[in-house]
Amino acid sequence: MEIKILMLFTLILALIGASSATLSPTGINYEVVALTTIKSNLHDPYNVLENWDSNSVDPCSWRMVTCTSDGYVSALGLPNQSLSETLSSSIGNLSNLQSVLLQNNAISGPIPDTIGKLEKLATLDLSNNTFRGEVPASLGDLKNLNYLRLNNNSLTGACPDSLSKIGGLTLVDLSYNNLSGSLPKVSARTFKVVGNPLICGPKASNNCFDFFPEPLSSPKTNFNPMDGFGEKK
Ligand SMILES: *[C@@H]1O[C@H](CO)[C@@H](O)[C@H](O)[C@H]1NC(C)=O
Ligand SMILES: *[C@@H]1O[C@H](CO)[C@@H](O)[C@H](O)[C@H]1NC(C)=O
Ligand SMILES: *[C@@H]1O[C@H](CO)[C@@H](O)[C@H](O)[C@H]1NC(C)=O
Ligand SMILES: *[C@@H]1O[C@H](CO)[C@@H](O)[C@H](O)[C@H]1NC(C)=O
Ligand SMILES: *[C@@H]1O[C@H](CO)[C@@H](O)[C@H](O)[C@H]1NC(C)=O
Repeated sequence: MEIKILMLFTLILALIGASSATLSPTGINYEVVALTTIKSNLHDPYNVLENWDSNSVDPCSWRMVTCTSDGYVSALGLPNQSLSETLSSSIGNLSNLQSVLLQNNAISGPIPDTIGKLEKLATLDLSNNTFRGEVPASLGDLKNLNYLRLNNNSLTGACPDSLSKIGGLTLVDLSYNNLSGSLPKVSARTFKVVGNPLICGPKASNNCFDFFPEPLSSPKTNFNPMDGFGEKK
């Protein structure tokens, strides 16, 4: 009898533990809180986020939200939606995000440095908005980042050295901002910084730093613009 009660008690504790992992103290799903906070910080003239409803229990059914098979938010795809105002730092609470596409909007304010907490993030496209401030150094913590587009914003300051820590980058596009200072050795297949007059110099040509080949240490995946030229047999 006592043992049965103990077992039941243990089971109840286990169930409470399992569900509170994704629920806030008030019983709301953390991802719903994060998404509705993101929504409330954006101006959405065409109501594309209309069904992002804080009373809804399942954000996986919301427009432009994609989830993993176990029900965590894995992608936000909101390009070309005329969104403006700011991107909430609560995006850093969507810890299963792999892809964030917010290009071609009019979002301003800083790029939240909490994005650096999204350790599964592989694709981040914030291009063609009006983001201001610096490129957050925390982006260098994104070990799985493959594709980074921050071009055509109003970013300032230096390109953070931390970006050189990321190993598997295919594309980094920082072009058409107002970055300054020296460039770290970012090892991306393609690294674009054209259109930053303080990096390239006011009279630089359009191709100023437009293309950086990968270091020669990885010849198999390397596109070397000199391949096939001047080879000595
Ligand atoms: C967004 O708009 C641009 C310019 O009109 C267009 O080239 C692009 O295909 C659009 N992208 C999406 C995802 O609709
Ligand atoms: C992010 O999650 C933490 C708990 O992990 C919570 O305390 C915080 O309020 C959340 N912030 C936002 C903006 O959702
Ligand atoms: C940039 O975004 C604006 C919307 O804010 C869009 O009209 C324009 O076509 C975009 N430019 C490109 C090259 O996609
Ligand atoms: C970025 O800005 C350049 C120069 O103004 C422009 O030619 C290009 O179309 C823009 N690209 C996007 C994606 O907005
Ligand atoms: C770029 O930044 C410099 C100062 O850092 C400023 O003087 C200049 O006006 C800015 N250019 C643009 C196009 O915003």
